[in-house]
Amino acid sequence: MRIVSGIQPTGNLHLGNYLGAIRNWVRMQDEFTAQGHECLYFLADLHAISMPHTPADLAANTREMVAALVACGIDPDKSILFNQAQVPQHAELQWLLNGTARMGWLNRMTQWKDKAGKNREGASVALFTYPVLQAADVLLYQATHVPVGEDQKQHLELARDIAQKFNNDFATEAAPVFTLPDPIIPPEAARIMSLRDGSGKMSKSDPSDMSRINLTDDADTIMTKIKKAKTDPEPLPSEKAGLEGRPEAANLVGIYAAMAGTSIEAVLGEFGGSGFGRFKPALGELLVDRLAPINARFVDLRQDRAALDTILAKGASRARALAVPTLERAYAALGL
Ligand code: ADP
Ligand code: NA
Repeated sequence: MRIVSGIQPTGNLHLGNYLGAIRNWVRMQDEFTAQGHECLYFLADLHAISMPHTPADLAANTREMVAALVACGIDPDKSILFNQAQVPQHAELQWLLNGTARMGWLNRMTQWKDKAGKNREGASVALFTYPVLQAADVLLYQATHVPVGEDQKQHLELARDIAQKFNNDFATEAAPVFTLPDPIIPPEAARIMSLRDGSGKMSKSDPSDMSRINLTDDADTIMTKIKKAKTDPEPLPSEKAGLEGRPEAANLVGIYAAMAGTSIEAVLGEFGGSGFGRFKPALGELLVDRLAPINARFVDLRQDRAALDTILAKGASRARALAVPTLERAYAALGL
């Protein structure tokens, strides 16, 4: 198996990014590489230019994201970790696939409709053709498996359609150019809500820093933020059903369960009947305990530009070595 997955580079990483995205990559890496499979993980910096962006921020966010990934457990020796922009074969293959992808297929993409909204005329062409780049991202490596959440299923379907049409039009059944990748359902990701308001998700764009735990927060900050997190006056229930209509309590219990690697039921088994006076310090200590090693590595690594550049350069070189043969075959198949 060869698993390929990408993530948009973002800065100001927080607990939601860790539990909702990064930790799944670490789990997949550990599980798949132990079985002898390959994991390719890339920073989708080429995708980032499909929306208005600030160049200096993009460069900084790419490095910051690499620092976070490595600090959280992505091992650049186990996984191939790189950014798209250093592997020009992504953009090259996208152009070749643009000849195969149909306007109608892209017009049907719900993310295009959502993101362009009513202003289609003002949207970048990249926003429209972004799913073709996503197809190139995985077909370039003959990926056999791609982890996709609900929102990305349609894009993986498109990648398969493009691969199939290309193979039909330009290759033989005996020697297809592209592998059709299968989806794998990633391990269930926690959805972490704001600490100030249980109905909005924890996000870097929330103006209140108290609403989130940042990966750069030290132990005191984490304890303070958990202590001040919004709650209600009731003790915790002993059954999961008792969390209904209590979004803040549900969020804190969910964070505890995700962080401890246990179930909501097990957390309530331990803390049901207790007030937040007991639960919050326990949650704060758990977070500090689990995040401290990540925080220490992250804070070190994010300022070590040379180390980050070396990681990315090595990853890109390994990725290019895998990409070139497929790209050459695609050129040849097209008569180029
Ligand atoms: P933000 O909402 O802070 O801007 P991004 O949109 O950059 O975060 O998300 C980066 C990744 O982190 C995505 O895979 C997203 O699903 C995940 N993520 C972001 N916030 C949360 C959250 N509160 N809970 C779970 N996952 C999250
Ligand atoms: Na966002």
